[in-house]
Amino acid sequence: MISDRLFTIREEGDAVLILDQTLLPHQYATRHLNALADAAHAIRAMLVRGAPLIGVTAAYGVALALKDGAGNEALQHACDTLAATRPTAANLRWALARMQARLAPLPVAQRRDAAWAEARAIAAEDAAANRRIGEHGLALIGQIAHRPVNLMTHCNAGWLATAAWGTALAPVYAARDAGLPVHVFVSETRPRNQGLLTVWELHEAGIPHTLIADNAAGHLLRQGKVDLVIVGADRIAANGDTANKIGTYLKALAARDNGVPFYVAAPAATIDWQCPDGSGIPIEERGGDELRHVGGLDRQDVHATVAIAPDRTPVANPAFDVTPAALIAGIVTERGVCAPGELRRLFPELP
Ligand code: MRU
Repeated sequence: MISDRLFTIREEGDAVLILDQTLLPHQYATRHLNALADAAHAIRAMLVRGAPLIGVTAAYGVALALKDGAGNEALQHACDTLAATRPTAANLRWALARMQARLAPLPVAQRRDAAWAEARAIAAEDAAANRRIGEHGLALIGQIAHRPVNLMTHCNAGWLATAAWGTALAPVYAARDAGLPVHVFVSETRPRNQGLLTVWELHEAGIPHTLIADNAAGHLLRQGKVDLVIVGADRIAANGDTANKIGTYLKALAARDNGVPFYVAAPAATIDWQCPDGSGIPIEERGGDELRHVGGLDRQDVHATVAIAPDRTPVANPAFDVTPAALIAGIVTERGVCAPGELRRLFPELP
């Protein structure tokens, strides 16, 4: 799946190459990150996005920052700058804490090489964890009797959101590889339309899918057209309450009302053990123009942005919501599937 073209982030000399997700699905373009400011901008402006990929990019951002000096002040400044980019994804602070813990005890002269090695390890571990999430999720999909299995997802929790494979889409790719027919309903995910990234991924992978308006999800669930809902996560509290892209909660409610199992797929790096329940999860509030404006291709295939509401329109734009553990059938992790309240059983050793 990951090829010369289909990748999210990789090293190139002493720079980092990313796929610019703000231009997809209409335009494919890569960008070089050469310095701390480039990495911080890429996360803040969502050139890279998705909790695991935000974490990997932040780790590489620390490595880029240390190119010009790796003293304590530079290390702290890099971590503070990157931590301030986006508030909700647990993987961001998890990756920065791991970089700090690895680098701070080292002599300054060794930190630069160690930073690249640690960022590389974080990326490789993310890919490996997601691969295992795919295997565990495949077992869930395989239990459903009829074919094709109809899944529903929200936002983009595919390989674009990670170092490789994705989280919610990893089982979909595993199903494809196992010859198990699946079809995926993909909600548009207003206002940033990350569902279009999912559609692009699934098209590239040759996996049958249907784009739906966000508001169509409840109707399709009620009509019995969906066997299983699977979404990613930006932060999972210790009790299993899960923050994910805005609109996830409504899908979980509609799934529960219609007896459709609702699963969350995420690696351990997304679990915030210090956060006892969802009420402590910080929810990012983004700018109002994301709602007032819509972008796309015009009739000449040129990218254009149009206003759908006057600039004066007051807007609330929370980027995430919290789905209570009670609505979640199970959490699919790299160590298996568990009830939301049983995460500790799978990860007893984590602080
Ligand atoms: O605002 P985004 O695009 O970074 O939000 C992404 C999501 O909400 C994803 O579902 C989540 O990060 C899981 S990605 C594997």
